[in-house]
Formats: sequence, C-alpha cells, structure tokens
Amino acid sequence: MNPIKHVAIIMDGNGRWGIKNKKSRNFGHREGLFTVEKIIKQTVKKKIKYLTLYAFSTENWKRPKKEINFLFYLLEEFFNKKIHDLHNKGVKIKIIGNKKAFSKRIFDILLNSENLTKKNKILQLNLALNYGSKFELINAMNLIVKKKIPITESNLIKNLYTNGTPDPDLLIRTGNTNRLSNFLLWQTAYSEIFFVKKLWPDFTVNDYNKILLKFKKTKRNFGNI
Ligand code: FPP
Repeated sequence: MNPIKHVAIIMDGNGRWGIKNKKSRNFGHREGLFTVEKIIKQTVKKKIKYLTLYAFSTENWKRPKKEINFLFYLLEEFFNKKIHDLHNKGVKIKIIGNKKAFSKRIFDILLNSENLTKKNKILQLNLALNYGSKFELINAMNLIVKKKIPITESNLIKNLYTNGTPDPDLLIRTGNTNRLSNFLLWQTAYSEIFFVKKLWPDFTVNDYNKILLKFKKTKRNFGNI
C-alpha cells in the first residue's frame, strides 16, 4: 500500500453548483467552504501531513468584482472563525502564492494565521491564493539569478513557494473538467491525478476516502518498470 504524505485539490464547481441549485454563484462558494472544512478534518483523521487547496488563482482576478469580493469575504470569515480551532488541532497554515496583491487587512490576517500556527506539526495546510504555477516558476528562476547560484533541480525546488513540502502523491480535481489550470505544474510531475465528475460542494468524505484507498493500491513506477 502506498503511503500518502501530500494531497492537492483543485476545488472546482462552486459557481455551477450555486446556479444548478437555483441560487447564486456566491451561494455555491459558501457551500464549497463546508466541503473545505470536512476535507481538512478528514485529512487530519487520516494522518496525512500536507494538504494543498487551490482557493484563488492568478487568473481568477478576471471574474466579476462582486464574486472576487465575496471570495475574499469568505476567506476573512473562515480565518476569523476557524483559526483557533485549526490551531488547536495542530494545523499549520502556509499561504502559497503572491500575497502582495491583497489588501492590507487580508494580508495581515494571512500573516497572523501563518505566525500563530507556524510550529504546528499535525497537518500543513497550504492554501493557494493568488497562485499561478507559471508565475511561481518564473519567480523561482529570478530568485536563482539574483542569488547567482546554478540552475539545478534542487535550487529550483528550494525557490518555489512549496519549498519544504514534498510533491503531491495525488491531485484531485472536482467539477468534471480534466485540466491542471496552472496548478503545481512542476510539483505534480509524478502525482496520480483523479478527475471527479461531482461539483466541489457535492464532494463527500466518502468520495475522498474512496480516492485515497484507490491511490494506496496504485502501482507507482516513477519511470521504472
Ligand atoms: C472554483 O469553482 C472555486 C474557486 C475559484 C474558489 C474556491 C473557493 C472555495 C472552495 C471557498 C473559499 C475557500 C476558502 C479556503 C476560504 P468555480 O467557481 O470556478 O466553479 P465553476 O467552474 O462552476 O465556475
């Protein structure tokens, strides 16, 4: 059975879920947050050490202002209401992505959450916010040039946002869309990818458990035979 250290998830389908249920796209995002909470809890229960969630991409800025504002409102509410519970459960928060684009209020909330939880060891929750894999790679290369160090695999890895996090063993994408959408392009080189038809708010702990079990039984060769 394969051990699981790191699960990465593209949580797709909130907007469609809201419309499908005769409400708004934003209603779907709120519902999606309940799934986020359930999946974090289950990841802790399964003793998986790293969980990376794609919450806002560098491309998501193209959405209507009303939706962007609501997503950040949800983010703020999530941290204000849940940070102490997460801290008590031993969850370490790490933001991956370019934090510079956020308002001072959001920036401070994120930084305070990272500082509060930095010594926690049960689960590292990487929250991808204003994250884009192409930007991350270019940023890493610029850092390497600035540091005047050789371009090697190990130097590149050390200069990615995910430095210190092992590569995802598996990547899950909900929402019936089979693409990576600029998420962890380097880090998923050998990840097993699971595309799920269900929209993110409909994704259950049972669905998650089934994927984890399927992964555990997969034969992984890493280029060998
Ligand atoms: C993709 O669904 C989802 C997002 C862009 C945002 C994900 C946000 C959440 C799950 C809630 C907030 C999370 C935190 C951690 C505060 P989509 O809107 O692109 O779905 P669609 O494909 O149906 O349009």
